[in-house]
Amino acid sequence: MDSSPDRCRTCAVVGNSVNLLGSHYGPLIDFHDVIMRFNTARIVGYEGDVGNKTTLHIMYPESSVDLDDHTHLMLFPFKIRDLEWLVSAFTTKSVKSTYKQVKSTVKANQGLVKVLHPGFIQYVHENWLGKKGKYPSTGFMGVVLAMHICDEVNVFGFGADKDGNWNHYWEAFGRHFGTGQHGGGQEYKLILQLAERQKLNFYKGF
Ligand code: C5P
Repeated sequence: MDSSPDRCRTCAVVGNSVNLLGSHYGPLIDFHDVIMRFNTARIVGYEGDVGNKTTLHIMYPESSVDLDDHTHLMLFPFKIRDLEWLVSAFTTKSVKSTYKQVKSTVKANQGLVKVLHPGFIQYVHENWLGKKGKYPSTGFMGVVLAMHICDEVNVFGFGADKDGNWNHYWEAFGRHFGTGQHGGGQEYKLILQLAERQKLNFYKGF
């Protein structure tokens, strides 16, 4: 696609890594046209390191949070129940659990809701990760999505801590969690390679 002011020109993909702490990336992140955040990402108290603007907030039922009126809620549907949850959250509020209890509703502008095509998850798993890990992490899919829809992609907040745990900038898991179900090491290597080939810019944090 040609670039145009109505499309995404510059995108900040902001993962939840602890390496954002002390980074002072906040103003740089907020300077982008599109700012993508994930799941239970916190802002209040962390503005200097992570910024305070969000245009696209990606989630699934188990990671859902309330949004302001200007932010796009984007569902990544990992299972059929996730699609049922989304409809229910804006209508009957009757879906209260998936494999665990979830928020039955979510505050968000209904007119700005987006849903990722489920085939995209398979595409990233097979074509980008060579089926490493059980399925791709939400954040890595966000990076690939950004490369498809934005002219310039800048990646922040990706990477495990020194012990290989995917800790968040607002909390530590307090146990050896590794990268969960995901091929975190493989995803990280790919991001480094994409940066080397100048397909994206990777801000490694502090
Ligand atoms: O933990 P959560 O899935 O909410 O974080 C959003 C994304 O940020 C993850 O899916 C992962 O891609 C990335 N992340 C990371 N390193 C961390 C924490 C998260 O790369 N320490």
